Amino acid sequence: MKKELEKAVEVLKAGGLVAIPTETVYGLAADAENEAAVKSIYAAKNRPATHPLIVHVCGADAIPYWTKDVPSDVKKLTDAFWPGPLTIVLKKSERAKDFVTGGQDTVALRCPSHPLTHELLCLFDEGKGKGVAAPSANTFGKISPTTAQHVRDDLGVKPEGKTDYILDGGECTVGIESTILDMSGTEPRILREGEITAEMISKVLDKPVMHGAIGASPRVSGSLKSHYAPEHALKIVCAEDLAGETQFAARHFETFALIAPKAIADRFAKVCVRAKGYTDAKDLQVHLYSWMHELDKCGADMIFVVEPEYSETSAGVLDRLSRAAADKKH
Ligand code: TXA
Ligand code: MG
Repeated sequence: MKKELEKAVEVLKAGGLVAIPTETVYGLAADAENEAAVKSIYAAKNRPATHPLIVHVCGADAIPYWTKDVPSDVKKLTDAFWPGPLTIVLKKSERAKDFVTGGQDTVALRCPSHPLTHELLCLFDEGKGKGVAAPSANTFGKISPTTAQHVRDDLGVKPEGKTDYILDGGECTVGIESTILDMSGTEPRILREGEITAEMISKVLDKPVMHGAIGASPRVSGSLKSHYAPEHALKIVCAEDLAGETQFAARHFETFALIAPKAIADRFAKVCVRAKGYTDAKDLQVHLYSWMHELDKCGADMIFVVEPEYSETSAGVLDRLSRAAADKKH
């Protein structure tokens, strides 16, 4: 067993906080059954205690440990998408305590596919179904981390920082948070868009999939309008408006950074502080957060993003972009 993995499991079992790599973003993990440990996640992130956390498990065998009244469709979903970036919300068992679920009668479960974290979860499970609660490893409201360095820069390691250990698993390959699917109601309902799309789920279940929470009950922090936000203003523009927008900015002595389709990024490279080019919506999805981290620190006054064309797979990245742009002065 790798020494790093051994250390991470040991820290988790002792009630510590470990930043774990997943295929979506880095998570800030604690033993999901240890109240003090879970509470320290909220403190480290400065996150409101009413926001429920996702419990990360080693596989579908852990579902009965955490949940009850599981509909038969769930097996189709776990067969198709686990391990992978799909979080499933189900009616909770006694084991999923209020300090994890924010007092709701449901629990969110996810089985990440990152090999290192998958191995960690299987070691932590003890053949029973034990899991770790883990939100994204960033200060509440800030850009989610997709590298270990992002976690070091934001939360850091004790004694100066807030985590006990950071397990470095390289760069995340999906780049945005998991799709959240509520399976606790009468029909499947997507609460947060991600790489696994409604079309993909609908095909596996052979039934329609709804969008959005009913009422205000499930408190999905990613559903707050301004979230995943850089410090600087981020503005989404269409390709035709970019020249006009940048000239307007220049008249106000504002410098800008740019995220755009590659050809446009190349064309504007000389007039902006820094430009990032993407090939398609998926390429933008994978790099969005790391580019936002980088461009936020590059000295530009604002970040322009040229929207990718709408496609079946762009819902997740368009959702995160619009939240990153919300409530900013531009
Ligand atoms: O990809 C991901 O899901 C990442 C990685 C680390 O696994 N985790 C993540 O966690 O994005 P977090 O806490 O940043 O977002 C989880 C979202 C929260 O907005 C929370 O409100 C929602 O999941 N959630 C958790 N339990 C829920 C429940 N029982 N019902 C509805 N939403 C729930
Ligand atoms: Mg988050």
